[in-house]
Amino acid sequence: MPKPFSRISPACTIVLGAQWGDEGKGKIVDLLARDVDIVARYQGGANAGHTIHLPDGRQFVLHLIPSGIFHEDVTCVIGNGVVIDPVALREEIAMIEAQGIRVKGRLFISHNAHLIMPYHKMLDQAAEQRLIAKDGSAVGTTGRGIGPAYEDKFARKGIRIVDLLDRDSLREKLRKNIAEKNELLEKVYGASELCNVDKIISEYEVFDREIDPYITDTSLFLNRAIAEGKSLLLEGAQAALLDIDFGTYPYVTSSNPTAGGACTGLGIPPMAIRRVMGVAKAYATRVGNGPFPTELLDATGERLREAGHEYGATTGRPRRCGWFDAVAVRYTNMINGVSSMAITKLDVLSGLDEIKLCTRYERTSDGRALEHFTNDLRQLADIRPIYESFEGWQAEDLSGAETREDLDPRIQRYLDALEREVECPLEIISIGAGREETLSSSVEFA
Ligand code: IMP
Repeated sequence: MPKPFSRISPACTIVLGAQWGDEGKGKIVDLLARDVDIVARYQGGANAGHTIHLPDGRQFVLHLIPSGIFHEDVTCVIGNGVVIDPVALREEIAMIEAQGIRVKGRLFISHNAHLIMPYHKMLDQAAEQRLIAKDGSAVGTTGRGIGPAYEDKFARKGIRIVDLLDRDSLREKLRKNIAEKNELLEKVYGASELCNVDKIISEYEVFDREIDPYITDTSLFLNRAIAEGKSLLLEGAQAALLDIDFGTYPYVTSSNPTAGGACTGLGIPPMAIRRVMGVAKAYATRVGNGPFPTELLDATGERLREAGHEYGATTGRPRRCGWFDAVAVRYTNMINGVSSMAITKLDVLSGLDEIKLCTRYERTSDGRALEHFTNDLRQLADIRPIYESFEGWQAEDLSGAETREDLDPRIQRYLDALEREVECPLEIISIGAGREETLSSSVEFA
């Protein structure tokens, strides 16, 4: 008799961003990867930038390959929910292999993943430029073609990796797509450069040969691994507040970084999920446009940006900085069923006289208190954050700590309040970029 699904032993942990991205998910996935068999990425594309610092001092920024690649025994998977840029993937594989790290035989890519085509990047950038020129309402995308690639996926015009296998039908699909995109680029966006079908086809034929060894039915692969009792880490890119459904629409990315996206982006059942870890910085940042209630447009915001090196890992853009918004993170924890949190970059707050934590909002129009986050832009435009204030600490107060209890009482007061406000246990506290600069109640990272 086949094994009923209700008897699947849940083996998957989702690690997702609980704010607006750049929370340090790369470090957390790299830490947790030591104890798992597989790390699988489920959405987004090369718009992500996951920075990893290895104990030997080497630093890597990954855009597509899961952050588990630096653990020899871990297999990495790029799921069907990810949109793959051949240029970025090829560069990333070469960069990792050049460091003596084996990728072939350890990385598997879904045959159902959609490909980013050159016209997606051109359309992404042209659409943003047009909005900037028109009324300044651009989303502030990374320009990596993410939105247009997902548009084609849902319009059923996308090119999937599996399409590379049938050259005649690929040519036919590409000819149709390119004719349409060139018309758009020329007539709507007034672009001077258009796409050339033959050039694209020959480039993607070369790419097909290169990636052939990595392609498989990853849903089948992952479900077999789950049935065998293997443990999996499911890595989200971007973050819940950039989610296409739950984020501050339209200032969002074009996929579902939220927990549900892990199932649809990998083809695994919800019952296989054992826990969901939300990753948040000890303060907040946002890159690109859109509401950010706790944003600091003053010297403190500038100070956080410099101390936290808050410049985009993918685009180099300066990130907007602000205080930790517990109202927003409570919402994230609710919609994702977050079971524990990792708080990162606590060290960046060192040296400030005062630290603030947003615990609720107040409506500016009538002074009414709001405990719950809303992703309605009109309502968000009418709120102001209400803060609890904490005494600051110095960098020395963090050094030498091995557990949360070793920390200075002022730091503990801030963390206790943050934990209370997000209504979720803090399982990991990161006090620096290195693996060892981590305090945890459950895992040892030395
Ligand atoms: P897109 O994903 O490039 O379409 O950009 C849409 C929005 O998501 C913009 O505000 C981007 O700045 C933001 N975004 C996309 N990827 C990331 C990321 O990895 N970290 C932070 N923000 C991101």
